[in-house]
Amino acid sequence: MAEAIGGYFEMELQRGCNPYPTAHAFNSARSAFKALLLACNVRRVFMPHYLCAVMPDAAKTVGVEVVRYSLSDTLELLQYPELDTDDRLLYVDYFGLKTAYIQNTLVPRYRARLIVDNSQALFSLPVNDVATLYSPRKFVGVPDGGWLVNGPDPLSMPEQGTAEGRFQALLGRLVDEPQTHYSAFLKIEEALGLEGLKSMSKSTARLLDSIDYENIRTRRTENLTHLRNTLDSVNSFDTWPATPTPALCYPLLTNSLSSTIALREELLRQKVYVPGYWHEVAVDPTTPLVEKSWAERLLPLPIDQRYGLNDMDRLASIIHLAMGTS
Ligand SMILES: Cc1ncc(COP(=O)(O)O)c(C=O)c1O
Repeated sequence: MAEAIGGYFEMELQRGCNPYPTAHAFNSARSAFKALLLACNVRRVFMPHYLCAVMPDAAKTVGVEVVRYSLSDTLELLQYPELDTDDRLLYVDYFGLKTAYIQNTLVPRYRARLIVDNSQALFSLPVNDVATLYSPRKFVGVPDGGWLVNGPDPLSMPEQGTAEGRFQALLGRLVDEPQTHYSAFLKIEEALGLEGLKSMSKSTARLLDSIDYENIRTRRTENLTHLRNTLDSVNSFDTWPATPTPALCYPLLTNSLSSTIALREELLRQKVYVPGYWHEVAVDPTTPLVEKSWAERLLPLPIDQRYGLNDMDRLASIIHLAMGTS
């Protein structure tokens, strides 16, 4: 049927801004991962212990064996497994700060058997022939979505999902504080998990095509640089890239679990909301000590595009006051 001309207007959005226009678009990064594993007949996938549970669960639901690997205290592989033709190794560009390691060490070693999980690294570009996953809603306000760049071509795509009913928390956050709509947000995330393997909804695709990514890149880079200048002296995290980076967050690592708990409480009291990467890793008895300690002690401070240098100063002074280093 021919497309309509005229009629009432849709919501007014820009076009042509999607940073990965050739990507296969899904309802989530885990769906993109599942579709990739199925299309490549993968038998076994090596995955880090330090990773949210939905990713190994996704591999298992499509019948792929999961082998976990350990990381060093610089978030790099402790040992490099030999891979068969139907094996893959998934590595996360942690906080968007491990891009150089991927390009200089993992790509030359594993090439097309590597899967880069850029869910935390929206601005890290894919490398030729290396399948790369993105989860844009960790960086921008959209209800769902996942991209697969450098997937097999052609790739048979699942039925299209719908974002209908998933806008409540996003619209609510335009006018209210986050806690007012937090339970709605959690329900939406849960429903997305239950939706299973779907292509990206039209409305999410339109939203993602309308965003000023250059502004986001600049703000995140500036905010990260500013927090580095003010907080690096009290931070045990020290695997920084050589150049300014539009990271996911400023990872603040304290040297004890009790300091992290105290800091998290103080941040909450000051209405600074900090996620945890990842509770399930911290409580899993099979998690090695290094990963358990990352999961327990890391505070990912927000540096996103909603904030400027004054907000970063406020954050830094809360941390210094709480740590007694001001
Ligand atoms: C590193 C990483 N990869 C993948 C995912 C899954 O992304 P999605 O929720 O879009 O499936 C997450 C979610 O928390 C993540 O942190």
